[in-house]
Amino acid sequence: MKAAPARRPPRPTARLALTLAAAAAVGVVGTLTHERHRTPPGPARPGPSAAAPVHATPGSPGIGDPLMPLDGNGGYTVRHYTLDFDWRAPRTAFDAGVTISATATQALSRFDLDFAGNTLRTVTVDGVPAKAVREGDELVVTPAKPIPHGAAFTVRVAYLADPTQHRHRDDAIQDYGWMPTADGTVLSPQPDGAKMIFPVDDHPSLRAPITFHVTTPPGLSAVANGRLVERRRRPDGRVRWTYDSEQPIAAQLVQLAIGRFTFVDSTGPRGLPVRDVVPTGDLVGDTEAYRALTSEHLAWLERRLGPYPFHRYGVLVGDTDLSVALETQSLSVVPSADLLGDRVDAERNLVHELTHHWTGDSVAIRRWSDLWLSEGHARFYERLYSDEHGGRSIEDAMRSAYAQHEQWRRDDGAPAEPAEDTLFRQMRYDGSALVLYALREKVGEQAFERIERAWVTTYQGRVAGTRDFIALASKVAGRDLTPFLTPWLYGAHTPPMPGHPDWQVDPVVN
Ligand code: TRP
Ligand code: ZN
Repeated sequence: MKAAPARRPPRPTARLALTLAAAAAVGVVGTLTHERHRTPPGPARPGPSAAAPVHATPGSPGIGDPLMPLDGNGGYTVRHYTLDFDWRAPRTAFDAGVTISATATQALSRFDLDFAGNTLRTVTVDGVPAKAVREGDELVVTPAKPIPHGAAFTVRVAYLADPTQHRHRDDAIQDYGWMPTADGTVLSPQPDGAKMIFPVDDHPSLRAPITFHVTTPPGLSAVANGRLVERRRRPDGRVRWTYDSEQPIAAQLVQLAIGRFTFVDSTGPRGLPVRDVVPTGDLVGDTEAYRALTSEHLAWLERRLGPYPFHRYGVLVGDTDLSVALETQSLSVVPSADLLGDRVDAERNLVHELTHHWTGDSVAIRRWSDLWLSEGHARFYERLYSDEHGGRSIEDAMRSAYAQHEQWRRDDGAPAEPAEDTLFRQMRYDGSALVLYALREKVGEQAFERIERAWVTTYQGRVAGTRDFIALASKVAGRDLTPFLTPWLYGAHTPPMPGHPDWQVDPVVN
């Protein structure tokens, strides 16, 4: 998958024309505008809070992530999303509406949302129809009047949703987006597929709470991230389900599933509400034994990483050609096949997705190149758990990862330097778990455990990147780990493994 080329920035003349048009629209005369451009910055210059003329300019079309440059948007922050989905049937278009509450972080002449496919109907800003143009995966919205810096505003987008849409990446074993099931759908939006579901700021570092309203035909259920707030039967027999994400959520971690479901409630450590969602029928009993292990998994991870960071958890069993699980926030989606085979394999998958709730969901990545922090931790604890519960020893798994590391480094990029088309390759999984293993060998188990605990505590509910990890590890360990971690994460070659002078790398093939 290749990113669409970035829109060219407006040429200077175009920018001036826009600025003047925006200024005119708010009743500012052109000469004043020019004056301000010529005034050198200094204490005499009126600050932005003074009743200065508004220079409304376009919000940037992306936040500049080198791997997905147009994902996310500039010029505003989203405070809240409300989704209204009038679900009909599998693979059938339905009416959808999204209400976005946002705050302008600059004076905006126009702004973008990330939105792909579907059939756009109308866009309003503060109740007034707005001009909306689609350019690739960007929805460019020009409100009737510019939006002042700092202003709260509301965008409503009405569209006909197409629940058959999904995309393919060569580096991922599974397509992503809407995943139709026999009775409805589940979602697998990672990495950049949420824009096929609703207009959104589609970047892992950007989060807002979401309220979901989903209307289903009688006999079907809807589930989404967070808490079921209300379930109301309408006079026509259709049922309106309301979910509240409770905590802010990144687009790639949104879950919304519709089907014939059985809800299985239980309680985790410290009274944590756990609700699994299972397609009604044999799968309820057939997946019971492994699903029941969640409480143990939670207790095991809490001993290492501290309290589970969300208000609830659950496993959504995917009865579709889903081939891989996803850490959708507070409700991981897990393919039914993962829960029907060998226990050791099932637990690896379950612990992997649960670990993501600390690393990836709660501690969000700043850039896609920080993905190693999310997947490396999930794989590391998955292997550590498995080592302690009848699976392969972590040392054996890491020795074999070490042997392949030079090859992965060449094929997939260094752990913290993926290419757009090598993002979800082995280097971000065992190749990145290996970096954490090397760090543990270097600083010792106790210091490593303190680093890990500090990482998820310090950045809980926040965004963090590779530099933050190196700085925090150094601070906790009481020594500068930059010279140790930099070659592991960015270097051309894999360094020697501390404590294992006998570990060998396989020769790099061609
Ligand atoms: N993040 C998922 C995991 O490791 C993997 C995954 C699910 C994925 N869907 C994807 C990766 C789509 C790439 C594309 O648990
Ligand atoms: Zn993962």
